[in-house]
Amino acid sequence: MVYLTRKEYFCASHRLFNPKFSDEKNLQIYGKCAYANGHGHNYELEVTVVGEPVDETGMILDLKILSDIIKKEITDKVDHRHLNIDVDFLQGIIPTAENIAIVFWNILAPKIPVGKLYSLKVYETPNNFAEYRG
Ligand code: NI
Repeated sequence: MVYLTRKEYFCASHRLFNPKFSDEKNLQIYGKCAYANGHGHNYELEVTVVGEPVDETGMILDLKILSDIIKKEITDKVDHRHLNIDVDFLQGIIPTAENIAIVFWNILAPKIPVGKLYSLKVYETPNNFAEYRG
């Protein structure tokens, strides 16, 4: 099997807080990430597809096609948005990298035309990222 990865980027704001917790508890848990008006990240999204060894095209999946799917389904909808407020498929969840990775996976997995989604990584910063494998 061959693992093929496409990286995409988006900028968005979010706020980490749980409405079930007091303001004080949210600050304890999430620190600055709980500040009322949110904050931004330059997110990176890595999508890895696994497939059979290459066919006569030399590819398992055209990376342009994969890029177009990621843009259409995900990044066009989250780029320059406030994830807590503006994005319908992120309503009702705490937009941690973990939760975002799971939601993005569930959207993308059925859209991969060749091979299978293997791994989805959401980087909030170069140091912090979440990976989901279904
Ligand atoms: Ni944050």
